[in-house]
Amino acid sequence: MGALVHHPRYHQELNPQPQILVLDAGGQYCHLIARKVRDLGVYAEVRPSETPAAELSSARGIIISGGPSSVYDSASPTVDPAIFARGQAVLGICYGQQLMAHLLGGNVQKGEKGEFGLATLDLAATTDALFAGLGGRQQVWMSHRDLVVGLPEGFSAVGRTETCPVAAITAPLRRLYGVQFHPEVVHTTHGKELLRNFVYGVSRCERDWDARHRAPAIEQEIRECAAGRNVFFFVSGGVDSAVAFTLSTRALGEGRVRGVYVDTGLMREGETDFVRRMAGISIECAQQQFLNALAGVTDPEQKRHIIGEEFVRFQQRVIESRVLRDEHWILGQGTIYPDTIESGGSAKAAVIKTHHNRVAGIQKLIEAGRILEPLKSFYKDEVREVGRELGLPSELLDRHPFPGPGLAIRCLCSNFDAPLRRTPEGWVIPVHSVGVQGDSRSYAPVLGIEGLDHEHATELINRLSDVNRVIGLVAGHVPLAEMQVRASSLEPARLARLRAADAAVRRLSHEAGFDRRVWQFPVVLIPVGTAKSPDSVVLRPIDSADGMTAQSVPMEPALLDRITRELLTHQGVAALFYDLTHKPPATIEWE
Ligand code: XMP
Repeated sequence: MGALVHHPRYHQELNPQPQILVLDAGGQYCHLIARKVRDLGVYAEVRPSETPAAELSSARGIIISGGPSSVYDSASPTVDPAIFARGQAVLGICYGQQLMAHLLGGNVQKGEKGEFGLATLDLAATTDALFAGLGGRQQVWMSHRDLVVGLPEGFSAVGRTETCPVAAITAPLRRLYGVQFHPEVVHTTHGKELLRNFVYGVSRCERDWDARHRAPAIEQEIRECAAGRNVFFFVSGGVDSAVAFTLSTRALGEGRVRGVYVDTGLMREGETDFVRRMAGISIECAQQQFLNALAGVTDPEQKRHIIGEEFVRFQQRVIESRVLRDEHWILGQGTIYPDTIESGGSAKAAVIKTHHNRVAGIQKLIEAGRILEPLKSFYKDEVREVGRELGLPSELLDRHPFPGPGLAIRCLCSNFDAPLRRTPEGWVIPVHSVGVQGDSRSYAPVLGIEGLDHEHATELINRLSDVNRVIGLVAGHVPLAEMQVRASSLEPARLARLRAADAAVRRLSHEAGFDRRVWQFPVVLIPVGTAKSPDSVVLRPIDSADGMTAQSVPMEPALLDRITRELLTHQGVAALFYDLTHKPPATIEWE
């Protein structure tokens, strides 16, 4: 069997002269703006915000990004005010709008309350090229506290939300525009049209970029971020880290990138062998380190924090043991956009689940400029497209997502023994799982019912407030009335039980072609059963576009029957359940 990941020889392709320059004012979404412009067919690059106007003169349009600062702080990023007086088109986004207003004589203030997440914009019907065809009420995505309260001369306000009276400003004769919301994120319904208007209508750019050819632009960004340093890259065997790793070796050359796969003891069956076939990656065994750190832990957030921090500790140890000088190395990760947005402006979303690549130790490295995340502005489907562009095999690219914390967050634990509770609707099972309801986290028990009726499950979950997930009993050695929850933790025997069940389900669903009809298919172990068979298995096949929302997918009876017959022969397994809940209100993973 050949190597799964090939490394085409390092080459730098010539990019066109950028027609749009994005000035980086420290915003989370700065690179996303440049990417969205390139996706529209016009080459764009990012520059430091303070770049002198003369060095920006070749661009047809300038976009000033958002940023975390307040224009009145002495150290906050600024731009050369001359950019507003050269007749070049300028669009300020979020902090960029505030900075434009402030530098041109307007007024910016701290708002009474922040505006984070979705908002409704009222946009006047104007003839301005930037807003052509976009007037009316529409959904936008906001992330700010400061706001513009006084307009500079010659500007008019054309858009407002309930919290922000100046959400869009224009001075068309001067070709200057600002928006408080973020047109670059997908949650702003007409964001793409607005950027298209700016690029083609206002800045009069010409199409010079094929959005399918993204790799050279990402490689350029990797070189800029690495700035001469080497990269220690964690790969997991999954799509994101494999694509990010391949891009990094292409950008920097193989000698400067070290790919490491850590066998945490929390991986699926056969995973380490799969990674062994990928070129240029060394395999490190740290099973004992991870399992010791997790011993006795039952809380999902605690599991996630421990695993993330163990990865950081592991990296430090490898760097020190190989006598590599710390400052010459940065850490590479396959983080993708949904991870970034959850831990970015939208503070609420971050508390739903702490992704293993966003724990405190990693945040510190990010602040120190020592993290490389080349795919952080991409969605899963786009990562797969980039992977195809790189020539990576579909055997790798079409794999289902698998979370960094691995089987640990699919092996549920309990601090206590407890009976199931009979209710008119079914049985309340006192095993807690994570949900997302009204943008915040829930952590609630599960309802077990007889039968696999998705519509009935949806009706129940909307009506009941004390559970956030509904599972249907497929089959069991005993009825629900005879089962109970048992005290349990991440013991090796339970992890082995889950690993075997997961491997069997994967094999059977692959043979039936079912794996190609779902986006992801977690298999979960819950401590529900009898003294002899203490655990049950839950099937969680879902369909999704990007993991942010998901639907539970039914399975054909013949396949379900094969899976049932096989799993009920596994030692320690009392019953098989089917998760009938969509996201929201449940999340895809149980923890
Ligand atoms: P949830 O469970 O929040 O998951 O609906 C959404 C998607 O994210 C994956 N996921 C993770 N991926 N590190 C990852 O790399 C993590 O810590 C993590 N947690 C969840 C999950 O598998 C699903 O695809």
